Amino acid sequence: MAVDLQGVHDFLIEIAHKAGDMIINAKPVAAGSGTKKNSADLVSETDQAVEKMVSTSLKEKYPDFDFMGEETYKEGDKITDSPTFIVDPIDGTTNFFHGHPYLCVSLGLAVEQKPVVGVIYNPFTKSLYTGIKGKGSFLTDPFHEKVRLPLREVEPMHDLSTCVVAVEWGAEREGNDYDVKTNTFRKLCLTKEQGGAMVHGIRSLGSAELNLCSVAAGTLDVYWESGCYAWDVCAGWVILEEAGGKMVGCHQDDWEPRVEQRRYMAVRAGEGQKGIIEEMWKCVQGKIE
Ligand code: IPD
Repeated sequence: MAVDLQGVHDFLIEIAHKAGDMIINAKPVAAGSGTKKNSADLVSETDQAVEKMVSTSLKEKYPDFDFMGEETYKEGDKITDSPTFIVDPIDGTTNFFHGHPYLCVSLGLAVEQKPVVGVIYNPFTKSLYTGIKGKGSFLTDPFHEKVRLPLREVEPMHDLSTCVVAVEWGAEREGNDYDVKTNTFRKLCLTKEQGGAMVHGIRSLGSAELNLCSVAAGTLDVYWESGCYAWDVCAGWVILEEAGGKMVGCHQDDWEPRVEQRRYMAVRAGEGQKGIIEEMWKCVQGKIE
């Protein structure tokens, strides 16, 4: 099926603004839900209302496309090769509950399981990140009238120790993956003499998609997380790669990430990408299952 990516992109921007208005005008109220893992895995009534609005609008306009959204996902749901909208109504729900303005609505389209359109909107900062496969990615905000990403001059990356690395804790707080994450964070901070990378800084801001946008912009060098879902990365993935960034899979020899694999490393544009990825793998402590 030939898809008019530009048409999808334009429609997703309209929806992102509607979603942004809903988010900004809402009071966070916890939704009664039995499906969340623990008390750190938050969901609000606004997440659900925004997803309903988005899915209804998309189904009306694109009845033949599939849809996957964070709030209606059921264990075992699979992304097919058909055009599929992959949506996180609020990426950064914890920030939403706490009034921290680092969150977004994330609207992606994957075709044959490859992300091809991404629209990400933070209604608090009015930052709109957009990308279409093969056509570049852009930021529009109160300071920039649709500028191409990356925002900064692309400087080479010689050493991980000169990088700012974003990581996320996620809602999982036990088990092997949690141990891998915490040991990795520690190693990133240790000095080289202690066997670490001693990066310039670690950031944990609470939105996977905005992290990917910042790596695309070049204001973060690396983002690594174990535990994201497709809706946390689909839109940002296009934006990142169209800005010259690189998305890598979950294992050291897996350079072909797949939309459903739940583990990603993203590195900004610039000479030295491969070396940074190799150094990052030395910091990943333990086996990611
Ligand atoms: C979460 C955020 C968080 C990341 C989690 C995501 P949500 O998304 O992106 O930063 O660590 O992996 O699930 O729950 O706010 O939509």
